Amino acid sequence: MSAAALLAETGAIEADTTPFSDYESEAGSELSTESLTSSIRQHYYENGRRYHEKSSGKYHLPSDETEQDRLDLAHHLLTLLRDGDLYKAPLKKRGDPATVLDAGTGTGIWALEFGDQHPGSQVIGVDLSPIQPSWTYPNVKFECDDLEKDWTYQLENFNYIHARTLAFSIKDWPRFVAQCFKHSAPGAFIELAEGSLDGISCDDDTYKGSALEKWSTSLSQCLRKSGIDPSRITGDTLKQSLEDAGYINVQVYPVRVPWGPWPKNNATKYIGAVNQLQLQTGMEAYSLMLFTHFGGMTEEEAKKLNADAFKEVETRKVHGYTYVWNVVGQKPE
Ligand SMILES: C[S@@+](CC[C@H](N)C(=O)[O-])C[C@H]1O[C@@H](n2cnc3c(N)ncnc32)[C@H](O)[C@@H]1O
Repeated sequence: MSAAALLAETGAIEADTTPFSDYESEAGSELSTESLTSSIRQHYYENGRRYHEKSSGKYHLPSDETEQDRLDLAHHLLTLLRDGDLYKAPLKKRGDPATVLDAGTGTGIWALEFGDQHPGSQVIGVDLSPIQPSWTYPNVKFECDDLEKDWTYQLENFNYIHARTLAFSIKDWPRFVAQCFKHSAPGAFIELAEGSLDGISCDDDTYKGSALEKWSTSLSQCLRKSGIDPSRITGDTLKQSLEDAGYINVQVYPVRVPWGPWPKNNATKYIGAVNQLQLQTGMEAYSLMLFTHFGGMTEEEAKKLNADAFKEVETRKVHGYTYVWNVVGQKPE
């Protein structure tokens, strides 16, 4: 059974109880034609991280090279969780979808791989931040735009829309999903992939009282203070949002993601190890702006809490996991 299939089951994940060794932890509405110079000017620095200017107050994660590397690692993790595929939608039976939108494309890694695997598709990757490569395949292009504004694409244009880990980017989720619906062709698929961030799950007693628990509780509190309710993101709420917009045949694929290589089974341990690699900078990426703006922490206090919590992940002290939901729907024919 694959790691993704094992992690999609509901029983407790068995923990590896062999002692931790240090050696192991080593494995452990601008246009895209904008010049590089002007796009670089749209950034600002805070607490040692670079943020995109336009995301100020809207998107709390950095856009610097460290974050770009993390997004590429997260792509590897999220692909493993789809059993090595780029999507769960039933596209293979139908041939290459003619037009594809990767909403909030980040570094564009998914859009590039999709374009490479589907030469019959025209792929557009859109992001607020110009962090995509300037070289692309002939059938892939990148645009810089704010997806929360009115879309200028033709109505009924896209045959497949992919939107991954945008829960905290998009504030007006029903409007975003409604725009996806409006600009999708009849019969088109949509696929959302989001992870839970409202608390970390644990099936034994290793989480209670940990620094990781403090980190996670602080993150949820700060998200709420910043106007984002982290509990709004679950497989069920994502499904409901697609159905409310008019999508049919909505399927939810839940999978658990271990925080660190603590599971006993080697395949799921590997998933935990890849997650650990992206958490190494990801815990700070998610929390630094929130902890210092909404949690009353100094930069040093925020960084210390991140380091203490990450240490527990790295040393397998805490057996935590979160959920990732892939949610697929179809616009009626
Ligand atoms: C966590 S990253 C995910 C990137 C990509 N989907 C992936 O899975 O690799 C979220 C991305 O959404 C972008 N973003 C945030 N707010 C946005 C908005 N209003 N319009 C377009 N992109 C936005 C950010 O710049 C960032 O690149």
